[in-house]
Amino acid sequence: MPSDSISIFLFVVSVQFVLLCSIGSSQKAGFTSIDCGASYPSTYTATDGIVWISDSNLTSQGISVRLSDNVLNQMLATMRLFNGTQSKYCYSFTNSMNSYIVPKAFFLVRASIMPGTNPPYTPKSSDGMFRFKMIVDGDEWQDVEIPYGDTRWWTYDVYMRPQRNSIDVCFARDSPDGDAPFVSGLELRPLPDTLSTTVNMTATGRIFLGLGHFNFGVETSALFGVRYPNDTFDRFWIPRNASIPNMITTEETINTLNVRDQPPQKILQSAYTASPYFAVTTTGLEVGSKHYVQFYFAEIDPLVTAGGMRVFNVSANDKSLTSTPLDVFSEVGANTAYSFAAMVDPDVTGAILFSFNTVPTPTFSPFLAAAELFNTRLSNTLTPSVIATDDWHLCKDCFSAVS
Ligand SMILES: *[C@@H]1O[C@H](CO)[C@@H](O)[C@H](O)[C@H]1NC(C)=O
Ligand SMILES: *[C@@H]1O[C@H](CO)[C@@H](O)[C@H](O)[C@H]1NC(C)=O
Ligand SMILES: *[C@@H]1O[C@H](CO)[C@@H](O)[C@H](O)[C@H]1NC(C)=O
Ligand SMILES: *[C@@H]1O[C@H](CO)[C@@H](O)[C@H](O)[C@H]1NC(C)=O
Ligand SMILES: *[C@@H]1O[C@H](CO)[C@@H](O)[C@H](O)[C@H]1NC(C)=O
Ligand SMILES: *[C@@H]1O[C@H](CO)[C@@H](O)[C@H](O)[C@H]1NC(C)=O
Repeated sequence: MPSDSISIFLFVVSVQFVLLCSIGSSQKAGFTSIDCGASYPSTYTATDGIVWISDSNLTSQGISVRLSDNVLNQMLATMRLFNGTQSKYCYSFTNSMNSYIVPKAFFLVRASIMPGTNPPYTPKSSDGMFRFKMIVDGDEWQDVEIPYGDTRWWTYDVYMRPQRNSIDVCFARDSPDGDAPFVSGLELRPLPDTLSTTVNMTATGRIFLGLGHFNFGVETSALFGVRYPNDTFDRFWIPRNASIPNMITTEETINTLNVRDQPPQKILQSAYTASPYFAVTTTGLEVGSKHYVQFYFAEIDPLVTAGGMRVFNVSANDKSLTSTPLDVFSEVGANTAYSFAAMVDPDVTGAILFSFNTVPTPTFSPFLAAAELFNTRLSNTLTPSVIATDDWHLCKDCFSAVS
């Protein structure tokens, strides 16, 4: 029988689409957003309600560089270039910015980087890649590797826990004569301790390095991303488009209450499907490092009216992730979110092939609404024995739903 396998490359951190947002909403408590290299004197509010502060009072290091490109938003228009000789350059998020930072709370920290068509200097390496490091509160976060002249918006996010009432984000050259680091924007977003990811961080003492939050089964003509305010924690959901026969969509409201991670409605109103199986491939992962994957589903096809009609297995590199075949309708019924998470290991080439296989009898094919993938790393400074107190309730408004 010919295979209908379809591969979707998942490892992408660059954002090349417009992030949809609602105009006129106001910013959520605890959001802190720094526009690096900004030339304006103080703050501004973007159309999504997020307030950006200039980094001019936060650092005396580096120089401000304005890009010559037309960019998607004001934050990307400027960057700070750390072209001095220090071994590293740091920003501190502090509570003077109303960030509600307390030790052991949970935060998403995001860095945005875009060299633009006329970067301020030429990379040292002959392959034309800018390379430098990012460090968050003493933990290695990311080896940045971005091509010269690249006009994509590169975003990196990490879920971390501070040790003090502040969070340091540092930029360092790879070696004393390596490339000078640069950055366009830094964001801090509080996370509750109840997400499946943050629960696992508590259990393992690890930080979670975001490799992407993906929305599957989106129309080619509607390549939009979803973020705050539709995503209450301001995760960026990157669209993975599909052709019409591979899409299921609905306008029905999806009940997401039983899913800990509070995915936005929108990403569950579309799904990718293929018969009798499909695969999602990821490459370029860190070999030997534990990865955390979470899949989201909702039975949105009105023709599926009972358990047993859509049943499938999920495996990673041929190892089953589902101990019994998955039947979303049986678990939660129609138009209701369902998720499961697993630890997964890349193969020796740094790849994971996730396959979704129909168990022989059902009439409907496997499907997938959304997925999140993280690399994880033991924190140098956090141990599982130091469990969060309820300190983070300090910010009572940080985790309320956005109205
Ligand atoms: C920087 O400090 C000056 C003087 O205190 C103040 O007027 C200005 O608003 C500050 N800018 C930012 C971005 O905080
Ligand atoms: C950084 O770049 C600026 C602008 O090109 C230059 O004036 C300054 O001397 C550079 N700093 C260092 C330490 O090279
Ligand atoms: C985002 O939320 C707003 C307000 O709830 C809604 O009008 C809009 O359609 C949503 N956008 C997406 C992409 O879901
Ligand atoms: C998805 O979008 C990309 C970029 O716009 C396009 O190249 C590709 O053909 C699209 N795929 C489908 C299945 O429509
Ligand atoms: C979370 O952490 C524990 C370690 O305590 C681990 O055994 C478990 O598999 C992890 N992953 C998930 C998906 O819960
Ligand atoms: C699905 O997984 C179950 C349990 O691992 C296994 O018994 C069954 O053979 C699998 N079915 C298919 C079609 O892969």
